[in-house]
Amino acid sequence: MSIDFAGKVAVVTGGAMGIGATTAELLCQLGARTAVLDRDGVQGLKLVNDLADKGMQASFHACDVADADSVQQAVDEATRLHGALQVVVHSAGIQRYGNALSVTLEGWREILSVHVDGCFHLVRSALPHLLAAGGGSIVIVGSVQSVTAVVNSAAYVTAKHALAGFTRSVALDFAARHIRANCVMPGAIDTPMLREAASLAPDPAAVLRDCARAHPLGRIGRPEEVARAIAFLASDWASFITGATLSVDGGMLVPTGGMAFQEGGTGSAAKQ
Ligand SMILES: NC(=O)c1ccc[n+]([C@@H]2O[C@H](COP(=O)([O-])OP(=O)(O)OC[C@H]3O[C@@H](n4cnc5c(N)ncnc54)[C@H](O)[C@@H]3O)[C@@H](O)[C@H]2O)c1
Repeated sequence: MSIDFAGKVAVVTGGAMGIGATTAELLCQLGARTAVLDRDGVQGLKLVNDLADKGMQASFHACDVADADSVQQAVDEATRLHGALQVVVHSAGIQRYGNALSVTLEGWREILSVHVDGCFHLVRSALPHLLAAGGGSIVIVGSVQSVTAVVNSAAYVTAKHALAGFTRSVALDFAARHIRANCVMPGAIDTPMLREAASLAPDPAAVLRDCARAHPLGRIGRPEEVARAIAFLASDWASFITGATLSVDGGMLVPTGGMAFQEGGTGSAAKQ
């Protein structure tokens, strides 16, 4: 048996770019009919046209995940087009910086509305369809910041922690009705979001080098490495996994005190 989504329908928010786009393509390659939900119509349409050229079945539905009606409309449209929905992926996200004092109320709300409200809207819109289909799988894209914090990122850290909690809540409440919910926690992944974040620094290349060093595997991750974990969790291969948080982080969460401490702290001078 191999991972196979033949005959299944998937929706992916944030599906126009980065991790979401790579996931949408992988789900299509594995046989799913996939609805790409995103606010970026240019990239979204480009992706589904590219997928169609490769013989895959994908559709684009413009939507702002922060807006409940917009998500409901997009999910309903996708199911009308493709049929019963079984796979739901929430990858839409944005990054803004600031600590608890410097973040503006507007910035705080923007982050929470895209990540947390967006996920809530998606799951609420999709659940009736999953229940009608007799079950399904939800995969939420969290972050290593679902369980740790990075400086100057109060809203993002809060939002990502909330997503881990929401995943567990949905997993528990709908397990008896054959719906699984899991959360992937990526480390730094080479996507437009990471490149944009790095570009805010005077030396973006140095930021990317530091990011690479923060992972014991010594490099930044690739979107397809997260997409594969999402596809696994969404698939029947993960049939006994629900409420889980899966790190896809090159080992980033493993070293006590981070990689810099391993290089300079206790034990670093001893021969391995
Ligand atoms: N790249 C990383 O290093 C990294 C690490 C950990 C977690 N993540 C998370 O992974 C997810 C995907 O990130 P990415 O790196 O692929 O980002 P990205 O910026 O490359 O792609 C994000 C996508 O979400 C869409 N989007 C943003 N706001 C939206 C909204 N309101 N409504 C609909 N679509 C919206 C964007 O248009 C874009 O297509 C995010 O939740 C992010 O927080 C990323």
